[in-house]
Amino acid sequence: MPPLSFPQLYDAHGRPLEYLRLAVTDRCNLRCFYCMPEEGITYLPKHELLSYEEMLRLVGVMTQLGVRKVRLTGGEPFVRRDLVPFMERLAALPGLSDISLTTNGVLTAPHVPALARLGIKAVNLSLDTLDRQRFFEITRRDELPQVLRTLHALLEAGIQLKINAVVMDGRNIQDLVPLAELSRELPVDVRFIEEMPFNGGSHIATPESLPWNHRRIRQHLEAHLGELAPVPMPVGATASEYTIAGHRGSVGIIAAYSRTFCGSCNRLRLTAEGGIKTCLYDQGVLDLRALLRNGATDNDLAEALAQAFYHRAANGFEAERLRPVHQLNFESMATIGG
Ligand code: 5AD
Ligand code: SF4
Repeated sequence: MPPLSFPQLYDAHGRPLEYLRLAVTDRCNLRCFYCMPEEGITYLPKHELLSYEEMLRLVGVMTQLGVRKVRLTGGEPFVRRDLVPFMERLAALPGLSDISLTTNGVLTAPHVPALARLGIKAVNLSLDTLDRQRFFEITRRDELPQVLRTLHALLEAGIQLKINAVVMDGRNIQDLVPLAELSRELPVDVRFIEEMPFNGGSHIATPESLPWNHRRIRQHLEAHLGELAPVPMPVGATASEYTIAGHRGSVGIIAAYSRTFCGSCNRLRLTAEGGIKTCLYDQGVLDLRALLRNGATDNDLAEALAQAFYHRAANGFEAERLRPVHQLNFESMATIGG
């Protein structure tokens, strides 16, 4: 088939499509309370998940529309078999300049040399506490030692490391400063994420009622660590980044629930079952799997994607309002990938 030639895709609000977050599975080996109920979610049967072949085809079409960067998410990506061979094939696609990965670190350490070989530049490691007991209380699994093994393996391999910590009132506030302190000696970027009321029974109705919003997180860190000096960020970034005098690494704050960064959002999400979300807060706006399995051509797929992206909501608040059900609690982050 001749290569498609579409111009770089922009949405109706002038934002380009550049970045795909690809959930390779809905399964996870942790049970973080803010993401999943203890018994887990009902996982999709395998045939309802996209195959790696299907993912490669879709990513290929997306690169024709402007996607340059792909982040693999889940669930937990390493729970899916043969992830590394899939990443090799992904890395061989023309047009992608950046492949990265978000992982909980439980199964990751043995794969770090392969990630380095593949040229994976950056890994985001989800880690909400450095305390083993609280790690167990938050994730319902006693896996902190494995996660720390991954952390050190990534640093030794020279892979750029970001640590993502969700800030949870009454759960891990005492951990924020120790986590930020990792950046003193280590070349890591420790990022604090506002908790979003997805699944797991959180009762935070609006950003105004969020006990720990981005401003309070900053004040808390500054009270303990000194001034957070803002670093200029590339367009499309969701984190506000800061340096702290005397620290080798940096810290970041992600206003995930306050949604301060939607104006420059350049991303698309492909769920494990082949749904397209043009915003973390929408309910899924296009069933690519149905199109794909009903014989769509690459051109059909590109047209459908272009339409969906063009018509995306202006921001996360609009996307939330447009959902058929006005609540977020029924959805697990494990199906979206953050
Ligand atoms: N609020 C904020 N962040 C969340 N994540 C998962 N669920 C939530 C939530 N309810 C984060 C994980 C991981 C990333 C993929 O999304 O901690 O870092
Ligand atoms: Fe797994 Fe991430 Fe959800 Fe935790 S937040 S249960 S690590 S998918």
